[in-house]
Amino acid sequence: MTDKFQPIGVFDSGYGGLTILKEFIQDMPNYDFVYLGDNARAPYGSRSFEVVYEYTLQAVQKLFGMGCQLVILACNTASAKALRTIQQNDLPRLFPDRRVLGVIRPAVESIGDYTSNGHVGILGTVGTVLSNSYPIELEKWAGGKVVKTTQEACPIWVPLVENNELDSSGTEYFVAKNIRNLMNADPEIDSIILGCTHYPLLMPVIKKFVPEGIHILEQGKVVSVKLKEYLFRHPEMDQECSKSGNVKYFSTENTEVFEKNATTFIGKVIKGEKIILK
Ligand code: DGL
Repeated sequence: MTDKFQPIGVFDSGYGGLTILKEFIQDMPNYDFVYLGDNARAPYGSRSFEVVYEYTLQAVQKLFGMGCQLVILACNTASAKALRTIQQNDLPRLFPDRRVLGVIRPAVESIGDYTSNGHVGILGTVGTVLSNSYPIELEKWAGGKVVKTTQEACPIWVPLVENNELDSSGTEYFVAKNIRNLMNADPEIDSIILGCTHYPLLMPVIKKFVPEGIHILEQGKVVSVKLKEYLFRHPEMDQECSKSGNVKYFSTENTEVFEKNATTFIGKVIKGEKIILK
């Protein structure tokens, strides 16, 4: 095992990735983690491929610079728009021994356990939906289990969450509208993936409008289970991850603002540090 501080990096455009980190800390309390939220430039959801890729690569490089050997893109938009290019073009060239993983595949691999009729709904940002990553990955990985994927982009949800509007009447209006659109597009949907790490914060409102009996998949738990499995399958990477139970938080936003809002997502008071990405 390494005696250097080599935490697992967790990146999101903003606060949403904290819903994933929370599960990592709970399931793997002895590992070190470093969280990086690009809050000053969030949301990424309606930004172009080029810009999301550029920002995500900057964050990954920053996390590598902090000692991370493994980085999780705890952001569907970054996973959809930047992960493949980083894995295929940047890592082999710049950091052949380091790894970057995303959050879409774990959700896709798990949905087969929940759907019984193969009709799956995806709620995500505009970027994630337009990338078609979920339908493509579902076709590849869920085999014959998923017969129909229907997507609904929810462009207002991330700004609502980033602004802590978790249960206002405005929030209810938009959540109800997007869920109605999704269910009208395929009334047979029996499972929905929350394809954005911000959305679990809206769960109480989402549950009000999703018809009873439909399974709603949050990513935190499944991503955490898949990360543990990954480290078990890759002991050479596991050895590179330091384990002293420390967690550090960085944000491109003002520290006070970040610390105040982050508490809602991670459920405890944290100490943040400002960081500049370029
Ligand atoms: N948490 C990000 C995701 O999972 C939010 C994207 C955004 O910044 O719009 O997609």
